[in-house]
Parts: sequence; structure tokens; C-alpha cells
Amino acid sequence: MHPMLNIAVKAARRAGALINRASGDLDRIPVEDKSCNDFVTEVDRAAEAAIIEVLHEAYPKHAILAEESGRTGASDFVWIIDPLDGTTNFLHGLPQFSVSIALAERGVLSQAVVYDPSRNELFTASRGAGAFLNDRRLRVSRRTRLKGALVGTGFPYREFSHLDTYLAIFRDLLSVTAGLRRPGSAALDLAYVAAGRYDGFFEFGLKAWDIAAGALLITEAGGLVGDLEGESRHLESGHVLAGNPKVFAQLVQTLAPHLTPTLRSRAAPPGSPVYAS
Ligand code: IPD
Ligand code: CA
Ligand code: CA
Repeated sequence: MHPMLNIAVKAARRAGALINRASGDLDRIPVEDKSCNDFVTEVDRAAEAAIIEVLHEAYPKHAILAEESGRTGASDFVWIIDPLDGTTNFLHGLPQFSVSIALAERGVLSQAVVYDPSRNELFTASRGAGAFLNDRRLRVSRRTRLKGALVGTGFPYREFSHLDTYLAIFRDLLSVTAGLRRPGSAALDLAYVAAGRYDGFFEFGLKAWDIAAGALLITEAGGLVGDLEGESRHLESGHVLAGNPKVFAQLVQTLAPHLTPTLRSRAAPPGSPVYAS
């Protein structure tokens, strides 16, 4: 295993252990509402601090882009961290959440870990060296048609300006696929595309820390990830579409007639968040 991936795995497992311990006593966790339906707990913050401590112990000069503490440092190496992806599930005792850690080197994703502490499933990837679930090499699914495909998604729950567009796409996909799923951890959803559990995935309005690790897992497993038009602007816009190559292309086609100007690639803000400023 690449030494930097090894450190990321150590950090993810440390955070996962902390999250698992806390999940045994949910009633004692105070919850803050960051904004409408956007919750944060001391578990999110403690997990993030634990991850950063492990990373900085090994790489003190590397920069950080983390959900709860923001951007710190300036370096060619940027760690992109979601310490607890799926906080709402976690707070409800629903065991579908993850720790997501990625490394970008000069703007290029090079290492990725998505860890599901409830199931002890560790998804890892290093650029050019493939993607793995625990010790098993991952490949995206081989399904060639949307007919029969299982597609993961995230429902809008905080920002409703694209709700009508989302529902129109949802309607189209319900009638052609085998079904849609909304488990509630985008990082894990993307890892499931890499693992071939889903044939495709789409969601609007994610953040770089939800996407970065899962995106590398998918490309290393032979899949494609992009924005809603299939372009490589997903980290900038937060709008994500992913799948095996065949399903990806059909999802791009299905979504195209529904996209409003603000959901198109050219609306993405310039400058990728994976570069340190
Ligand atoms: C959320 C989860 C969820 C997705 C949301 C994210 P959080 O992350 O990934 O699946 O639908 O958009 O914000 O807030 O639990 O880290
Ligand atoms: Ca998240
Ligand atoms: Ca989070």
C-alpha cells in the first residue's frame, strides 16, 4: 500500500472507532443545526480532529480542506476530509455513514479512503493502482443498459431551488431503471458505484469533501465520474453523476433535457477546491 494511503487508512480507522463508540450512546450527543437540516455534533468535530492529528503527525506541511474546520495551510498536497458523511443517519441510529479522506497532489486526486465503520468496510484507491474493498480488487458493474440498472441518488433536503428538475429526472429514471436508492452518505454511495453495487449515481449540490475520495475510487475501478453533463467539473459545481461507462453515458443523455442553465457545466465556479490557495 502507498505510504500516504496507509496514513489515510490509519486516520479513517481512528475516526471510525470514535464514531462507533459514540453511536452506542446517541442520546448524550448534543446536536447543533449549522443551517436548515444541516447538523453537526461533537462527534463530527472530534473525528475530524483525530484525522487531522494523524495526517499532520506524518505530513506536518500538508494543507487541509475539511468540512468542519475549513481550509488550512498552503501546499501542493491537500487532504480533503469529511469526518462523518451521513450525520443525519448517524443521529438516528441508522448504520449508513462513512469517513471520507482524499489526497490531491497539485490538483490531481492521488489517494482515497472511504470507511464504513458500522460494517468495517474499507474502500481504498491509489491513482494508477486500482481500487479495493478491504483486500478485494473492485470493478464497476458490467450492466450495459439503464433498463435493470440500480441507481443511487441523494434527495434534495436543504436547498430546494432545483427540486422540480430533480423530480422530473427522478420520474424519468423510475420508469426505466430497476430502482433508485437514497441511503444517505454520498461518499459511500460513490464507493458503491466503484464496487458495482450501483450501476450509477447522481446528486446535486454536494461539496468537495463528499465527492473527492469516491471519485478516485470510481475511476480506479474503471468507472466514470463527472458533473451532470458528464464533464470534469464535479468538484467545482458539486453536481455529480457517476457510473460504469455505459450507464454513465445513458444517465448523461437522460438528464440532458432537464438541465437548467445553473445545473450545466459552464455555470460551475472557476478554480477547483482541491488546489490549496
Ligand atoms: C451529506 C450526505 C448525504 C448527501 C448530503 C451531504 P453530511 O453529508 O453525504 O448523503 O445527500 O448532500 O451533505 O452532511 O452528512 O456530511
Ligand atoms: Ca458529507
Ligand atoms: Ca460530514
